[in-house]
Amino acid sequence: MKYTVVLPAAGSGKRMKANKNKLLLELFDKPIFLYTLEVFQQDPQCEAIWLAVKEEERSIIDHYVTKYRITKVHGYADGGMERQDSVRACLEAIPPCGVVLVHDAARPFISRDVITRLVETAKTCGAAIAAVPVKDTIKKAANGIITETVDRNQLWMVQTPQAFDYNLILKAAKSAVEDDFLGTDEAMLVERLGHPVQIVESTYENVKMTTPEDLIYGKAILESQIQ
Ligand code: C5P
Repeated sequence: MKYTVVLPAAGSGKRMKANKNKLLLELFDKPIFLYTLEVFQQDPQCEAIWLAVKEEERSIIDHYVTKYRITKVHGYADGGMERQDSVRACLEAIPPCGVVLVHDAARPFISRDVITRLVETAKTCGAAIAAVPVKDTIKKAANGIITETVDRNQLWMVQTPQAFDYNLILKAAKSAVEDDFLGTDEAMLVERLGHPVQIVESTYENVKMTTPEDLIYGKAILESQIQ
């Protein structure tokens, strides 16, 4: 089942403690975002890749796109202040399509199987997100004192990709701007329209490269893949 993917790639390196966009940091021989691009380049169901990038980084990103022959990149949109702005800019730039996937360029280890299940679910339900069950015990606290131990069986750690019917996510993104609503993921924008969002169980490997120790984990995943 065909889809278009939107990759927000206009973040910074703050939590990574890098003095540049963390996506340009290398895992072994190439920048993080290229691993992500290659997953979609190699997926026959992926029709088009769109990237949200900072204006001043467009040429370096485009350089790598050409060098690594990522021919499915159809275009770029200008990244915004918040991730949500970057995603919206891309959604407004892409031609109308059936299913659109939103995926953090900072998650290079997404599996083809999860992508396929997300696209199929979004095709029938309109909205589907990748998530994994919470492994740890979770507690709420106020001033360092536990107020509640939350039932772990109901908790999911949410990832990207998040897959949507094109018209639904565009409507949700526009509605969020009109209401000045800032969510932490695209699913929240759809949830606030009252539309159900289906969870698709993903893998723990689909980690977001966020803080320095994630790079160690990322390298270990790559090493395990070549063994
Ligand atoms: O900062 P964080 O890792 O949560 O960002 C998730 C993804 O969103 C990254 O791929 C990052 O490049 C992107 N992003 C963006 N525009 C922003 C902030 C983040 O495209 N303003």
